[in-house]
Amino acid sequence: MSAMPHDLPWDHTVALMADPYRYLSRRSLALGSDVFESRLLLRRTICMTGPEAVALFYDRQRFQREGAAPEPLRATLFGKGAVQGLDGEAHRWRKSLFMRVVDADRVDELLHTVGQHWELAAQRWSGGPSFPLYHALHPMLTQAVCEWAGVPVPQEDLPRRSEQLTALFDQAAAPGLGHFRSRRARSQIESWLSRLIDHVRAGHVEVAENKALYAVAWFRDEDGKLLAPSIAAVELANLLRPTVAVSVFIVFVAHALQAHPHCREALAGSDNAWLDAFVQEVRRWYPFFPAVVALVREDFEWRGLRFARGRRAMLDLYGTNHDPRSWERPDAFLPERFLPRAPTPFDFVPQGGADAATHHRCPGEGITIALMRQAARFLGQRLRYSLPAQDLSIDFGRLPALPRDRMILGDIRLSA
Ligand code: HEM
Repeated sequence: MSAMPHDLPWDHTVALMADPYRYLSRRSLALGSDVFESRLLLRRTICMTGPEAVALFYDRQRFQREGAAPEPLRATLFGKGAVQGLDGEAHRWRKSLFMRVVDADRVDELLHTVGQHWELAAQRWSGGPSFPLYHALHPMLTQAVCEWAGVPVPQEDLPRRSEQLTALFDQAAAPGLGHFRSRRARSQIESWLSRLIDHVRAGHVEVAENKALYAVAWFRDEDGKLLAPSIAAVELANLLRPTVAVSVFIVFVAHALQAHPHCREALAGSDNAWLDAFVQEVRRWYPFFPAVVALVREDFEWRGLRFARGRRAMLDLYGTNHDPRSWERPDAFLPERFLPRAPTPFDFVPQGGADAATHHRCPGEGITIALMRQAARFLGQRLRYSLPAQDLSIDFGRLPALPRDRMILGDIRLSA
């Protein structure tokens, strides 16, 4: 057995945080191995990149999620007790809740609701001043997803609920105060939603059976018991927060439309295959979720390298989506690459790999893709706008990465 290539003994967190999307693949290239060991976030960590490493990482016999996510992430992005940290039967059972709530009919309903909010928002924006699209999308998506989920939000509460849901993903990895804003938002969101769960169960709030709020409030874990209200709140937030986070990808849709004007022309046709290819390429090319973490379940050996029980493993999602072994000219934006080629469960991983129903892969890909397609059509055809002078470069040093000026739109008009 050979020693694992490594970057030890120093801690490389500062280098990782300076370039969170490209650090893992760059070190992997320098060390000449898909798997290497480093010290990150003060812990020895096995770093893994590329499709074969993805297949290994999703082997449930070899990796577990319980205890893997660093506390600052559980206290902001995920919430404690969430599906993200479950394994085995407990995970499969809890995951069935999400798979049900995001079935095709419900995705269509969400799409319909968000579509109405695009129209209303565009009418408000028409003739008004320029504004950053990223910030404008947060209240719009918050209102739409809460309506869809059956979560009542009085109009006067919308700004703060939108800010709180946004802080969970936008500020989780921010330095200093930003991170604490994200922690505070987590406790505000959870106390709001757990009170709501209590009210639903007590019959004080009526909610239709086809709503996500109903599904979560009455979901029974594999022991036959209702979820504790605090856990139900975490899982409800696990539906609301990431839907608002689709704002990041919608901003990248707008960015790609301006950076590649021929795409805008191609989207003007009725070719759905091309629209799908465009959305897939936005999810592949642009940075969003850099990596996921797990723990080695038992000692094992892979390609002659030893994986020690309890070691944290970090899987490189962004680097895998740009791996030249899977993607020709990986740094070029080429939607047409998706026309003849269906991605495999291991080489295209913007929202995780393997199978969503049985592994930890994101259950929200259907929602994400549907909202991005809708946004591409709306921004490409229905909305007319200009892009005032601004910095369109993408800040790769923040999480999530974004265009530095958040994609400012001006001179809004609606086309007939
Ligand atoms: C905004 C775009 C999105 C991105 C980039 C994204 C990305 C991801 C990633 C990378 C994972 C982790 C996969 C793993 O651990 O192996 C994940 C898990 C998850 N996502 Fe998403 N996601 C998005 C949208 C959504 C939406 C719209 C929903 C629900 C409505 C959602 C709900 C979840 C849940 C509940 C999990 C945990 C799954 C589990 O642990 O089994 N996500 N997502």
